[in-house]
Amino acid sequence: MADDAKILILNGPNLNMLGVREPAIYGSDTLGDIEERCHAHAKGLSLEIDFRQTNIEGELVTWIQECRTTHQGVIINAAAFTHTSVALLDALSLLDTPIIEVHLSNIFARESFRHHSYVSPVAAGVICGFGWRGYTLALEAIKDILDKG
Ligand code: DQA
Repeated sequence: MADDAKILILNGPNLNMLGVREPAIYGSDTLGDIEERCHAHAKGLSLEIDFRQTNIEGELVTWIQECRTTHQGVIINAAAFTHTSVALLDALSLLDTPIIEVHLSNIFARESFRHHSYVSPVAAGVICGFGWRGYTLALEAIKDILDKG
């Protein structure tokens, strides 16, 4: 039997503060809660996940560069770097694997500076506004893309 595809799930700045950070916008679940649900969901889809968070832009860039040869897909909530980082766009552009962009909140219903994303041009799709379920929806989307080859 073929090995499960390995998916890198990346989380950007301040997402380590979920649970205490603006719960009216982001909900009361912690990032650890979301990670647990992703592991459970991924198992059912025969995916292996590698779930990470950093507040450092360069660390995200390095992880993206490294995953070229180790992972078959990327799910990314780049948080505030979504709206600012050409470096992230350049790193993601190196990948031949599918990329799904996720946001907990509906960024289009919020301030106008959140309406632009440097990630979207290289993403297969964007899921936003569904809270933590966006991550499990993204796992299903990436599984579907990988299965279709
Ligand atoms: C976010 C939306 C971003 O605008 C914000 O900077 C975040 C979280 C979300 O998941 O809704 O930190 O990516």
